[in-house]
Amino acid sequence: MSGHDVVIIGEPVTGPGTASSGGVADDPCQRILDAIGLRRRAGDEAKLCGWLRPRLRELGLSSIDAYADLLAAGGAPGRHERELLMEHFSTGETYFFRDQGLFGLLAARILPEIVARRSAQRSLRLWSAGCASGEEAYTLAMVIDEMSPALAGWDVRILGTDINGDAIARASGGTYGQWSFRVLDEARTARYFRKCGREWQIDERLRAMVEFERRDLLQDETGGGSADAGGFDLILCRNVFIYLTPPAVTHIAGKLVGALSEGGYFVPGHGELLGCVPSGLEALTWPDATLYRRPATESAVRPAPAVPACAPSAPSVPPRTAPPATSAAGLSPRQRDSAPRPAAGPEAAPDEVLARAWRDADRGAAQAARAACERVIAVSPLDPRPYFLLAQLAEERGAIDEARTLLRKVLYLDPGFVVAHLELADLCVRTGDARRARQMRAQALRELEKMPSETPLPVPPHTTAGTLLQSLRAGDAAARGAAEGGSHG
Ligand SMILES: C[S@@+](CC[C@H](N)C(=O)[O-])C[C@H]1O[C@@H](n2cnc3c(N)ncnc32)[C@H](O)[C@@H]1O
Repeated sequence: MSGHDVVIIGEPVTGPGTASSGGVADDPCQRILDAIGLRRRAGDEAKLCGWLRPRLRELGLSSIDAYADLLAAGGAPGRHERELLMEHFSTGETYFFRDQGLFGLLAARILPEIVARRSAQRSLRLWSAGCASGEEAYTLAMVIDEMSPALAGWDVRILGTDINGDAIARASGGTYGQWSFRVLDEARTARYFRKCGREWQIDERLRAMVEFERRDLLQDETGGGSADAGGFDLILCRNVFIYLTPPAVTHIAGKLVGALSEGGYFVPGHGELLGCVPSGLEALTWPDATLYRRPATESAVRPAPAVPACAPSAPSVPPRTAPPATSAAGLSPRQRDSAPRPAAGPEAAPDEVLARAWRDADRGAAQAARAACERVIAVSPLDPRPYFLLAQLAEERGAIDEARTLLRKVLYLDPGFVVAHLELADLCVRTGDARRARQMRAQALRELEKMPSETPLPVPPHTTAGTLLQSLRAGDAAARGAAEGGSHG
């Protein structure tokens, strides 16, 4: 058994233009968010206005409209403003081996396949798009280094790009604080880093493998850089799309897929394509990730539209193709033995698919549950519930960082998703961060207090807000009692 399913993604998604859904041309705030592709959330307007007031003064502009015109005009000043806005409104959170399951899969399965395909050229091109301060690009360099006997004499180039100039400068410097090492094992830390005061400097050999450039994924061409010629064998673009509008996601994903070599892989973050999967790709669902492969024959790939628009729609799920026969060497037992996911009608409503997914998760059929979540995300990209179930599944298999990332996505989509606050609090307890755990729990209590007590919670067992609030308060009282008893005794 190969451990994954292959699905050829069908028709290109079509829909509205580049304005975000509900985009209003005469709303200057919306024009600004659309120009940088950022999805609008509650509170964005206030944050944007707070940032714009001094910026307009600095630029000598009299209105937000004039600023929106500056962005729309393009050119160097517009580009500079876009970069400043993205630096301010997106997060650069990243660390080495973020999502160990994915990197295990790349090392055990995907890169060996690419290396076999590239054996005549003896060259590899990898790209970490939206690399922030470079940890993801250097993680690829470590994985490649660990394959080194097989790659002796190869021309391997890794490109890291980001819109944020400060982040790219940090990446090029290759010096990192402790926080970037939160899941990196001691052996790799010792092998690839040198202690420099309170920080760590990456090994020169690894640094030479990676080239960093400041690039705007939305505006810049994907070609042109020295590492781009011939197409990329692997493009990672993770934890970038979650903050962007569906049209921006579709546009960027289309460009990245256009930059792949034949047989090359595109790796977005979990569930991040928001239903905007570029056409003609094979989707390969593994227990630890869903990857997308450009088929090896050119004729099988339809070119991505220049600015494809996206209307999340039911994913087309043509018959599965037979997975390629490949060696299972190096795979975890879970990866080797995982059963193909059972087919579920794409016509089923998200609520129904999710209910079935929870039942699958309860009976231990994690892969079926995961696949169902991905399908719900494809039709309802802004529904936080599938991300919550994916987080539970990640937690169950010990992928704590992935679970945390997914729970943050849930709260990004719905800040009032109380159970996600509580799950995050639990994760903080498990990782020894008691202070943060208390904050998350307090936040959950505040959200619950705002809700009518009969409100059902959005995930099984659909307890009401009132019941949950009562049981949390009872738990707190019991904990206080125990602490007082302990201090008296
Ligand atoms: C959360 S970090 C992800 C880092 C890394 N990929 C990871 O998963 O750990 C998101 C990065 O995407 C970058 N980004 C957002 N929009 C971008 C754009 N239009 N072009 C290039 N980078 C962008 C941000 O500057 C930020 O550094």
